[in-house]
Amino acid sequence: MKILTGVQPSGKLHLGNYFSAIRKILHYQNKAELMLFIANLHALTTFSSKENLKENTISAALDLLALGVDPDKTIFWIQSDVPEVTELTWYLSQSITVSQLQLAHSFKDKVAKGFVPGAGLFTYPVLMASDILLYSADKVPVGKDQKQHLEFARDIAERFNSNFGETLTVPEPDIDENTAAIPGVDGAKMSKSYKNTIDLFGTEKEIKKAIMSIVSDSKEISEPKDPDTSIIFQIHSLFLNEEEKQILKTRYTSGGVGYGDLKKSLLDQVMTHFEPFRKKREELSNDLSYVNEILAKGKTKASSIARKKIEEVRKALGIYPF
Ligand code: ADP
Ligand code: TRP
Repeated sequence: MKILTGVQPSGKLHLGNYFSAIRKILHYQNKAELMLFIANLHALTTFSSKENLKENTISAALDLLALGVDPDKTIFWIQSDVPEVTELTWYLSQSITVSQLQLAHSFKDKVAKGFVPGAGLFTYPVLMASDILLYSADKVPVGKDQKQHLEFARDIAERFNSNFGETLTVPEPDIDENTAAIPGVDGAKMSKSYKNTIDLFGTEKEIKKAIMSIVSDSKEISEPKDPDTSIIFQIHSLFLNEEEKQILKTRYTSGGVGYGDLKKSLLDQVMTHFEPFRKKREELSNDLSYVNEILAKGKTKASSIARKKIEEVRKALGIYPF
């Protein structure tokens, strides 16, 4: 069973990313063959500057390695290091129609917000299908927002196979439909675009500022608090097992503890939980040649899989040289 997923290098990771996407990806590492890459070519569709792209690409690699990606178990590489993916994108773009791509939510949403789309944003799902099909992934863990992209990848693989002969593995999506949206400091879904995040690798000062700004009601210190409606509790409980959750609940319901103290406990929890990861990230950022070595090994492994598949696809299509 080959599991593959991509992460866009789009800035700082937050608790929402960690507790949904990243932990789930890492959980596969010991169970199956995991392939994980940083989707820097996809990031071009929202390009701001080359400095930004460079910084975000390395930053994403550091984040994932610090959080536990083990290069001895997982093939870990940067998307652009295997250019076969862009060649395959061209071949696959013949197996999907313009009217299908026009239905893509990701495209429609950006256009609705006034973004003037390049052709790259329009064909974004084809590049994503290429990522998946080039490496013959069986299963692709993604967030709910990527569901339609996975359907496109399946459609493309099926159409290609029926037109040109069985060549591509039709991937299965792996989506938790009922993962709750993790709330941000204002109670809305935590998201970079809402600026309501608690970042994993922010400074203590930044994390403290974010946590202290979590909205709460105006109950006095002496009054019992309702954990079920408290954003502080919802975020804090992500770190806890059932027993620890019950203990924390009692602190809320028994009264005598103010929101300031409850936030302070959450801050301690966040800092303690991510301390080893921060340390690891710091070490890695001081040894970029080691990080580049890991990525180079990932590139070699991914390339060898990609080259075989691209040969099969060229043959199926009659691409010169024969
Ligand atoms: P953002 O909304 O901050 O831009 P992304 O779209 O980059 O986050 O999300 C990357 C992954 O993290 C996706 O798989 C998405 O489903 C997951 N994710 C992001 N925010 C949350 C959240 N608040 N709750 C649950 N999952 C989230
Ligand atoms: N589009 C995905 C996202 O924004 C990232 C991605 C690119 C991806 N290629 C992929 C995810 C292939 C899974 C498989 O989250």
